[in-house]
Amino acid sequence: MTIDELRKRIDEIDREIVRLIGERLEMVQRIAEVKNAEGRGISDDERELIVKMNWRRLAVEYGIPVDIVSILADLLIKYSKSLQINLRGRKKLQKRVTFIGYGNMASVLARQLVKVGHEVVITGRNLDKAEELAKILGCRYMDLESAIEFGEYIVLALSFEAYKNGYVNKLFVHLRNKVAMDILSSKSWVFHYLEGESLQNNFMYVSVHPLFGPLTPPIGEKIAIIPSKTGATVLQDVVDLWFSAGLEPVVVDLEEHEKAMAIVQVLTHLYLTAFSKALKKLSQELHIYPDKLSTPTYREVRTIVERLKHIENVIFEIQKTNPFSVFVRREAVDVLKDVIESIGRQI
Ligand SMILES: NC(=O)c1ccc[n+]([C@@H]2O[C@H](COP(=O)([O-])OP(=O)(O)OC[C@H]3O[C@@H](n4cnc5c(N)ncnc54)[C@H](OP(=O)(O)O)[C@@H]3O)[C@@H](O)[C@H]2O)c1
Repeated sequence: MTIDELRKRIDEIDREIVRLIGERLEMVQRIAEVKNAEGRGISDDERELIVKMNWRRLAVEYGIPVDIVSILADLLIKYSKSLQINLRGRKKLQKRVTFIGYGNMASVLARQLVKVGHEVVITGRNLDKAEELAKILGCRYMDLESAIEFGEYIVLALSFEAYKNGYVNKLFVHLRNKVAMDILSSKSWVFHYLEGESLQNNFMYVSVHPLFGPLTPPIGEKIAIIPSKTGATVLQDVVDLWFSAGLEPVVVDLEEHEKAMAIVQVLTHLYLTAFSKALKKLSQELHIYPDKLSTPTYREVRTIVERLKHIENVIFEIQKTNPFSVFVRREAVDVLKDVIESIGRQI
C-alpha cells in the first residue's frame, strides 16, 4: 500500500471512531433520561470502575498500550458526566454568592459558579489578593462588609487556621439572614461552632465539602452537603446552587461524613504519603532510579503522589482534625503488619 492509500485508510478509521463516539454519547443521553426519570444521581463509582477495567482489558486483548486507552476512557467518562449534568435541565437561577477567601478552592468553586451565570463577589483579609482572583475569574471584589451585604450565599472558603485565630469570629454579626457555608475537609469542632453561632446570630448554616482538589476538573465531581439545625429550610437551595455549577451534591449527616473521610482521605493519604517517603528512601539506599523501569501501575500511583504534593497542607490538616484519624492510623499500621506477617508465612 502507498502512503496515500494508508492515510486514506486512517481517515476512514477516524471517521468510524468518531461515529462510534457519537453513538456512545447517544447511549449516555438515554441513560441520563432514565436516571432523571428515576431520580438517580449522575455519578456511579462502581459502574465507572467497571467501564475503566473493561477498557484496560480490551487494550490488553488488542495489544494497545494501557496508558492510551486509560486517557481516552477518563476523557469519555468526564465528558459523559458533564453531558448528563447539562441534560438534567438546570433550573435557571441566578444567585448572588460571596466568597470569603481567594485560595485554591475559592478559585475552583467560584469559577464554576461564574461560568453558569451566578453573580460572584470575592473578598477576604487581603483585598489585593481578592482583586487578583476576581480579575482572573471576571467577577467583582469588595471589602468584607459590602461583600457579605451583597451575597445571599456566603462561602467561607478559608482554611482551618482562619477559624482557630478568630478571623471567622468577627464575621457572624454580619451574617444575619444569609446562608453561610464552610468548605473544610474535616469538620471537627467547626461544625458545632458554626451551628451554635448560626442559632445565636440568625443565619442559616449548611456545611459543604467539595470532594475534589484544585487540580481535578470539578464537573461531575461530588460535593458533600451537611445541613445543620439552622440549615434545613435552605438545604434544597444549597443543593440546587452547587448542582447548577455542574457538581453532584450528596446530602449526608456529620458523623457519616467524618467516618467516610477517615477512610477516603485519612487512610488513603496516609498510605500514599508513606509510599512517597519509602520511594525516596529506598531509591537512595538501593542507588537506583526506579522510574527507568516503571510499570503502568507504578506510573499511576506516582502521578497521584505528585498531585498530592500540591495539597500537603490540607493533607496535614485532615490528619490532625478528623475525629477518627488516630483510630484509622492505628488500624492502618496493624493491617500493614498483618499483611507483612502473612506474606512472611506464605514464603
Ligand atoms: N485543597 C483541597 O484539595 C481541598 C479540597 C476540599 C476542601 N478543602 C478545604 O478547603 C480549605 C481551603 O483550602 P484551599 O486549598 O483553598 O487553601 P488555600 O489555597 O491555602 O486558601 C486558604 C484561604 O484561607 C485564607 N486564610 C488562611 N488563614 C487565614 C487566617 N488566619 N485568617 C483569614 N484568612 C485566612 C487564605 O487567605 P491568605 O492568603 O490571606 O492567607 C486563603 O484565602 C482547606 O483548609 C480544606 O479544609 C481543600
